[in-house]
Amino acid sequence: MARCFVTRRLPGDAIARLAAEHEVDVWEEDHPIGRDELKRRASRTEGLLCTLSDPIDAELLDGCPELRAIANYAVGVDNIDVAAAAERGIAVGNTPGVLTETTADLAFALILACARGIVEAADDVRGGRWRTWSPEGWLGRDVHGSTLGIVGAGAIGRAVAKRAEGFGMRVLLNGRTPGDGRVSLEELLGGSDFVSLHCPLNDETRGLIDEPALRSMRDTAILVNTARGEIVDKEALRRALKEGWIAGAGLDVTDPEPLPPDDPLLAAPNLTVVPHIGSATHATREGMAALAVDNLLAALAGRPMPHPVG
Ligand code: DGY
Repeated sequence: MARCFVTRRLPGDAIARLAAEHEVDVWEEDHPIGRDELKRRASRTEGLLCTLSDPIDAELLDGCPELRAIANYAVGVDNIDVAAAAERGIAVGNTPGVLTETTADLAFALILACARGIVEAADDVRGGRWRTWSPEGWLGRDVHGSTLGIVGAGAIGRAVAKRAEGFGMRVLLNGRTPGDGRVSLEELLGGSDFVSLHCPLNDETRGLIDEPALRSMRDTAILVNTARGEIVDKEALRRALKEGWIAGAGLDVTDPEPLPPDDPLLAAPNLTVVPHIGSATHATREGMAALAVDNLLAALAGRPMPHPVG
């Protein structure tokens, strides 16, 4: 029996499955655990199940001499120093696959919401501003027949491309490996009506969508980000929206998270922000918990994780 620490309550019965085999300590609060408390609670643990809100760096790992396995409750592992874990012989796992279609649904929901001004129109109804059917009111942009640029041609990007086919969209893909329909980032940004980000956050992609990138987009284009907030230069995006370099943006992820209500970005026009809900369906979040626990159980039993990273 190993000592495990789980940094948040998780939906479904996955933690119970872990607790059936190991001693499990769970952070029960509704907010992420603070750094000092995380260090303290993780210091004697052999298995750590953490979320994307928990930075797991070399300093933290140095304080966890017994740690053998880290299961991230996410597919993105940018919160973990994977190299530092590997140097210390600690296995790291993530939750790929299970959230692909759910996140693609949300990306498409943001594309549609931004194109048709759904959030603003619904606010107008609640705010008593729907006085008449109006020939010139609430005019948006067509999604069908337009061009969608997908940055990051991994599983989620390709799942978004599949949805775009049903809308009769032309799809431009940009990713690390060459393939059908792949174009340069420059060509994609300049040639798309919608740009949807699906690349992982790493040294290559941090700040990828900066001022020059935003300026190279069409002034009618809409940017959607369901990947990681740090891929977009926030101040450049604020100016892009305010000064009309692009027509709108839909963000599921921000830098930082949560985005404080007084963040200047939120004052920008034509912006829809939702609180990192890409994977937030009952089935998917339970599926993620199951995969994370499978990873931890395997590593603690001395077997390879089913979904290892690195
Ligand atoms: C992930 O798994 O990386 C997602 O961002 C969680 O929704």
